[in-house]
Amino acid sequence: MADNKLFFFDTTLRDGEQVPGCQLNTVEKIQVAKALEDLGVDIIEAGFPISSPGDFNSVVGISKAVTWPVICALTRSVEKDIDVAAEALKYAKRKRIHTGIGTSEYHIRYKFKSNQEEILERAIAATKYAKKYVEDVEFYCEDAGRTDNAYLARVVEAVIKAGATVVNIPDTTGYCLPDEFGAKIKYLMEHVNGIDKAIISTHCHNDLGMATANTVQGVLNGARQVEVTINGIGERAGNTSLEEIAMIFKSHKECGIQTNINTTRIHSISGLVSSLMNMPVQPNKAIVGRNAFAHSSGIHQDGVLKHRENYEIIDPKDIGLDDNSIVLTARSGRAALKHRLRTLGVTLTEESLDKAYEAFLNLADRKKDINDDDLLLLVGKDRTESHRIKLDYLQVTSGVNVQSVAAVRLLIAGESFEAAASGNGPVDAAIKAVKNIIHRTMTIQEFLIQAINKGSDDVGKVHMQVEYKGNMYYGFSANTDIIAASVEAFVDAVNKFVD
Ligand code: KIV
Ligand code: ZN
Repeated sequence: MADNKLFFFDTTLRDGEQVPGCQLNTVEKIQVAKALEDLGVDIIEAGFPISSPGDFNSVVGISKAVTWPVICALTRSVEKDIDVAAEALKYAKRKRIHTGIGTSEYHIRYKFKSNQEEILERAIAATKYAKKYVEDVEFYCEDAGRTDNAYLARVVEAVIKAGATVVNIPDTTGYCLPDEFGAKIKYLMEHVNGIDKAIISTHCHNDLGMATANTVQGVLNGARQVEVTINGIGERAGNTSLEEIAMIFKSHKECGIQTNINTTRIHSISGLVSSLMNMPVQPNKAIVGRNAFAHSSGIHQDGVLKHRENYEIIDPKDIGLDDNSIVLTARSGRAALKHRLRTLGVTLTEESLDKAYEAFLNLADRKKDINDDDLLLLVGKDRTESHRIKLDYLQVTSGVNVQSVAAVRLLIAGESFEAAASGNGPVDAAIKAVKNIIHRTMTIQEFLIQAINKGSDDVGKVHMQVEYKGNMYYGFSANTDIIAASVEAFVDAVNKFVD
């Protein structure tokens, strides 16, 4: 194996999926996993099987569906976790168990109420136990960012001796400075006996906005695996974003780092993950933000037109932004739709394609040009099909100096219920009408409406957080009618707690 090969370990489906409101079902996770395979990631962390039956089933489903990347399952240093992970990985062609324990003083004292020697023993035992099931065992030293380097080196050395093939050095709290994190990796490379028998991995969180810088420093100091997520999603402020690391090493050839990433798939997978997870990408996000390649000032536009590299360090085509993409309109056929979805990383069965095409024609009647975001939203609509409660009819009257009123019909398990209400604006009236049917005490805690592109015929995306009995439920919808999108998002959230 070449020393300059950098392995990409994608944890969008595990660390990324831990974000509230980002949960995917197994079918959606398989869709993302296949797109990750196309992108060329080396390892897919598919879930934490003991945490829920959903996670277990997703690891099984992804193991069956994916051929080339290693499938990895997370565990604590607990035998039962490892047993369940091994079971979930049964069908994986190439498999890895990712086990570990907290190694910082905070974790040892306050989480485990233990001491360094006991934690070291548990680390060795977990590695050996995982090794009974699989050859490829990765060990994580949780909160390594705040772990004393000398103790960290002892743990790393011990787990490598016990058979770990990869050792993960997470900056779990996103606390380290780039120099400090780089020095930590360098220290391990220089002080751990047997370090050449394992790969050192980085896993940086972005709490202080330094995840990418820390990961780069880790690699420059000897790490050869990076743990990353699409769009940088993940716990709190997120994880290091895959697209940033891939493009940094593609742009900085002098670093001599090689990867398997097919960067032309970046734009499409970013849209897929954002759409399936209902997680908008900030417009100025590096590499994949809507404005990442938009030059608005006259001086910049002039400079780019004269010579692209005056202001652009990345060719948009390198991330799959194709200026010449086919424009889809009401006259486009099924084949064009299928092709476009395929380039977006979405492969549909013939039956789902029929439904998507019908929805596409419907939207195309209302909207002149259908863009990639619209398509991903259309495909995502399938998710509501299994809903018990469906919005069947909505009529609102609103305007200036007019009291807003709404009439709503819901289908609940196929049975029809109608109600009307007045309110402080059309959305308020419509939501009150829905509440008159559902009869539960629930409050909207967050309500976000976004237009995806430009123009008055644009699709509006609505994200809603609804509190019910102290728990938070998330709803999403997209529609050219933003009142309908708001009510659909509310109904989407309600479906998650009404049975
Ligand atoms: O951030 C972290 O430390 C983790 C570990 C479980 C790998 O996600
Ligand atoms: Zn993490």
